[in-house]
Amino acid sequence: MTSPDSAHTCAHPDELRPDWPRDFLRTGAQRLELEIGPGRGAFALDHAKAHPELDLVAIETRRSDVEEIRERAHKRGIRNLMVFHGDAKVLVPRWFGPGQLSQVHVQFPDPWWKARHHKRRMVDVELAALLRLLLHKDGEVDFRTDVPEYAKSAVRTWEDAGFVNVDGAGGLSKLIPETLSTRERRYAQTGQPVYRARFINPGPPDVNVDVLAERLEEQGRTGREWKDVRRK
Ligand SMILES: C[S@@+](CC[C@H](N)C(=O)[O-])C[C@H]1O[C@@H](n2cnc3c(N)ncnc32)[C@H](O)[C@@H]1O
Repeated sequence: MTSPDSAHTCAHPDELRPDWPRDFLRTGAQRLELEIGPGRGAFALDHAKAHPELDLVAIETRRSDVEEIRERAHKRGIRNLMVFHGDAKVLVPRWFGPGQLSQVHVQFPDPWWKARHHKRRMVDVELAALLRLLLHKDGEVDFRTDVPEYAKSAVRTWEDAGFVNVDGAGGLSKLIPETLSTRERRYAQTGQPVYRARFINPGPPDVNVDVLAERLEEQGRTGREWKDVRRK
């Protein structure tokens, strides 16, 4: 919301978020989805193409992947996909407002194998608490990994944040998704197992997200250390 004299004052942070419907050249509000770490983008491209009714924002740290996806989207005439080069941990809290997202896809996030590096993993208490706020009621998290131990800890993290597991507490999905990611297509050929889970947001969190993240951390879940590592 713009105050009468906003031209002469600092903008409120809420005024600085992208206007997604306008940026996607839509006339009204649209279903907005987010993919974190699309890699070479097979999922992003095919999902956007198959669902012209939604808008998909993808954030990827590897510039060459971003350029490749943009080029392929352009060649295929896909207009409902925007791919940005950047760190989702930094951009997601700044770019989306409460209840704005319909679905978030986190597919095969980097495993950070060593125990001392687990704190750098994409799925942590802060992301889970934040997505409780940014997804609207009944909005969904689509999580996939090829690392069984990551699957187990991520399922616990989403559930601890208050998401409802579609397959029951601790459960994994047996359904083959409509669209596979780049990596998942390779595994479909080789037969390597994939662990998938879906979570529904029951509604806005009943506590402030920072408080929720703190509470989860008190229960021994990680999050803050990730930032500390990045600052060094
Ligand atoms: C293992 S790849 C999986 C790529 C793709 N989702 C797939 O399934 O084929 C993980 C991807 O996440 C990206 N990534 C890692 N950290 C990220 C971050 N903080 N923000 C955005 N992308 C990130 C990596 O650059 C990489 O492309």
